[in-house]
Amino acid sequence: MQRYAVILAAGKGTRMKSELPKVLHEAAFHPILHYVLDAAEAVSAERILTVVGHGADQVREVFEDRCEFVLQREQKGTGHAVMEAMPALTGAHGTVLILCGDTPLLRGETLDDFLGAHEREGAACSVMTARIDDPFGYGRIVRGQDGSLLRIVEQRDASPEEQTISEINSGVYCFDLDFLREAVTELRTDNDQGEFYLTDTVAICNEKGKKAMAWAVNDFEEVKGINDRKQLSEAGKILFRRKNDALMKEGVTVISPETSFVDPDAEIGYDTILEPFCTLRGKVKIGTGCTIGPRSELTNSSLGDGVRFWQSIAVEAVLGNDCNIGPFAYLRPQTQLADGVKVGDFVEVKNSTIGEGSKLPHLAYIGDSDVGSGVNIACGTITCNYDGFHKYRSTIGDHVFVGCNANLVSPVTIEDGAYIAAGSTVTKNVPADSLAVAREKQKNIQGWARNFRSRHQK
Ligand code: UD1
Ligand code: CA
Repeated sequence: MQRYAVILAAGKGTRMKSELPKVLHEAAFHPILHYVLDAAEAVSAERILTVVGHGADQVREVFEDRCEFVLQREQKGTGHAVMEAMPALTGAHGTVLILCGDTPLLRGETLDDFLGAHEREGAACSVMTARIDDPFGYGRIVRGQDGSLLRIVEQRDASPEEQTISEINSGVYCFDLDFLREAVTELRTDNDQGEFYLTDTVAICNEKGKKAMAWAVNDFEEVKGINDRKQLSEAGKILFRRKNDALMKEGVTVISPETSFVDPDAEIGYDTILEPFCTLRGKVKIGTGCTIGPRSELTNSSLGDGVRFWQSIAVEAVLGNDCNIGPFAYLRPQTQLADGVKVGDFVEVKNSTIGEGSKLPHLAYIGDSDVGSGVNIACGTITCNYDGFHKYRSTIGDHVFVGCNANLVSPVTIEDGAYIAAGSTVTKNVPADSLAVAREKQKNIQGWARNFRSRHQK
């Protein structure tokens, strides 16, 4: 059976108290709508339509590659939002899944089970429900004597007796598309809010003698919506917890899950250890047997196997196997380290490639450079790559040894096997296997210090 998904995301999200549309607020490093789209993609929906209204342009811009959009100019209720989406589905038949843009915790597997039950039962309308201790504010599920689903009543329209019902409407539904198309035309606004309620389609389904079904979700957590900043933070916590649980299942040691912030999209190999307070954001890929030291931050970066990454930061960097990083290293965009590279404390590397086994143990800046293999760059070395207007590239060959506190004024080429004397400011190319010395010759003045002191001490 063909499956479609419609995500309702036109609402304002008043309680967020924000300029940003609610579905663009982030939990676990992604806008909450990202997770709803993930779930819709997981059930192989043929097409995914998102109904947008408040902040429509902003939402479109972020998700234009992932779904189609329907504009609901005025928000006249959930039923109205679905009405607005119907023309886009003209001529389509099958099952349509209705989701809310603000429920990021719903899992693809759960949706798949729900869709399976709906299709197996031949229902025209199925509602995902949950039994909760404090149902205040939610629509309540009204069942008949035989347990069948009769209708849904909103909190503000419910009688005192109906308000005692603890089974709630999660806001997730499956419909037979042909039924839904017809049912939304029959919705009325005769309720406390004067809105078109999608929930009224349940009673319409029964009136038409078609099958309406309530499907209770096991874990209420999955259907928790985000209405305010507190719920946003709670959802983020749950998403991080789930990621850590999945990683541990796959053989990753997570020393302190409550302080490990790993992007749900990150990939980490077995026998890798995450020390406390790591932040792994965006497309992060880490191999097997790595140690990610405490307070490290990795953003859109990839690490090979056996890397030791200690209290450091990497942004858009690519590291080979067995690299040894930090503490306090800063790897900036377009950094590429081959296998076995060491980048030690207070070293910054930007837009540079570093060859196999090369070492930058401490206090250096390498920018816009191609560094060969087996190179040793000693303490205090700087590539002077910027003249205030342009950036220039330098090349450092294989097995070059750069002594302490050298300035390499770009563009400059240091050929294979050359030595740079400590303290040199190198402005000319250095031929292979030679020594460049570019500093004042030392002279010693006998007795100068003794005379100096005696002049000043009375
Ligand atoms: C709705 C349900 C309620 C259910 C609850 C679950 C109705 C009438 N009630 O109530 O039974 O328990 O969800 O969370 O459906 N939206 C639009 N356009 C609109 C109105 C809403 O796109 O004109 C979107 C919102 O952005 C949101 C979703 O629909 O993502 C739900 O709307 P909301 O106003 O939060 O519904 P509730 O009052 O919570
Ligand atoms: Ca509402």
